[in-house]
Amino acid sequence: MQADIDRILIPSGQIAARVKQLAHDITQTYADSEQGLMIVCVLSGSIVFVADLIRHLPIKTKIGSIAVSSYKGKTTRSLGPALIGRLEADVAGRNVLLVDDIIDTGQTLRLAQNELAAQGPASLRTCVLLRKPHRAPRDVRVDFVGFDVEDVFVVGYGLDYDGDYRNLPDVAVLKPHVYD
Ligand code: IMP
Ligand code: MG
Repeated sequence: MQADIDRILIPSGQIAARVKQLAHDITQTYADSEQGLMIVCVLSGSIVFVADLIRHLPIKTKIGSIAVSSYKGKTTRSLGPALIGRLEADVAGRNVLLVDDIIDTGQTLRLAQNELAAQGPASLRTCVLLRKPHRAPRDVRVDFVGFDVEDVFVVGYGLDYDGDYRNLPDVAVLKPHVYD
């Protein structure tokens, strides 16, 4: 796996520090909420991020999931997102925090936000680890952002290429030969 890595964009230590800060901001935001929080993670890219984030949240938190696919196989271009299966969370009347790994074109989050909003949550906010800022559209609101990154395809810390590299602890860029 290491042989496929061209460069590390965000080392694991920097991610860990930022995740702690994000958890602090999230905790402040929901400090007055008595019913606690419902986190809905977008599968599968957000699993590593969510696993780390929730362990820094000292508030009552339930976890649900929504599965959205945009890439099929060996591609780095989104084919347009589609919901897979149903929303695995009862979000009506809850304070919902939607969590994904990255916002690129925003299509995935727009779809997930619309799906959740239709279920009548008490509140709906969104958190992403990474944002490609010049691509993310203004109409898709994101409340918590870990890092803004340049417009390159990244892997690691949950993000994959063709299903691989999710277990890499850093966020990294692959060598060009991997895409051949
Ligand atoms: P969007 O719909 O274009 O915003 O893309 C969001 C989804 O595409 C994310 O949930 C990721 O799963 C995936 N994605 C976007 N950019 C990257 C990347 O650079 N590396 C890996 N996955 C990505
Ligand atoms: Mg994803």
